[in-house]
Amino acid sequence: MNKADIFKLLNDMWIDYLRLNPEAQKIHQLLQRQNPIIINDHIALRTFDIESINIEVLAAPFLSAGYYWADEYHFPVKHLYAKHLQHIDTKLPKVFISQLLTESLNQANQTLIHNLISQIPKAQIGQTDFCYSGRYWNLSYADYQQLLVQSEYAAWVAAFGFRPNHFTIFINQLDSHNSIESINDFLKAEGFKLNSAGGEIKGGAEEYLAQSSTLANSISVQFTDRTAEIPSCYYEFAQRFPMPDGSLYQGFVAASADKIFESTHTR
Ligand code: NI
Repeated sequence: MNKADIFKLLNDMWIDYLRLNPEAQKIHQLLQRQNPIIINDHIALRTFDIESINIEVLAAPFLSAGYYWADEYHFPVKHLYAKHLQHIDTKLPKVFISQLLTESLNQANQTLIHNLISQIPKAQIGQTDFCYSGRYWNLSYADYQQLLVQSEYAAWVAAFGFRPNHFTIFINQLDSHNSIESINDFLKAEGFKLNSAGGEIKGGAEEYLAQSSTLANSISVQFTDRTAEIPSCYYEFAQRFPMPDGSLYQGFVAASADKIFESTHTR
């Protein structure tokens, strides 16, 4: 995949994300008034650890475009494992891909997830657009609820399928704001609600990364038996700090991300 193809893929992911989170477009437009260029720190994708659709499968188009694996993370409390991809062109967003350890679910939910995944046409898997191609299966509201009881993450992937869970603005590159505090104040003054689980700011200079996020927008989702308003995607903001060697930290902090996953929780 060449540079033009990767820009197209990232742009198509952004368009898909805005369909689920139109609020992000409003925030982006507000910031664009003072920032001609807005750089994404990272884009986050979610999946299950089932071999046909796991992290490696979602990562394939990025790897073919020159991205490389940079680090991995464990979230034992949430039964998640994640890895992130980076590109030598630092203007390209990192791609953070997490997967649920399916065997952490009870037997009924494991069977349910395997049944959903079995409905994906084989030819779709491995297509460049697979990571934002959405949901391939029918899902009843009762099954969604059953997953929700055990894992908000599993319920989210079952409801929305494969698509960006969030985009993240890289605060360091903004002309208009120079700290996560000032971005948060700006967002609240504009009427946006932030995820305050574990405090509005997750992490900080001592962890070399501070992040905050909006609360996931609720949208109407079609289930087999009804439509329901459920939390979809959120917008995230990241400020990175220099490490002792002077370079900006490029990784993620598992303890903080644990709380950020809760931005899509039902309330
Ligand atoms: Ni993130």
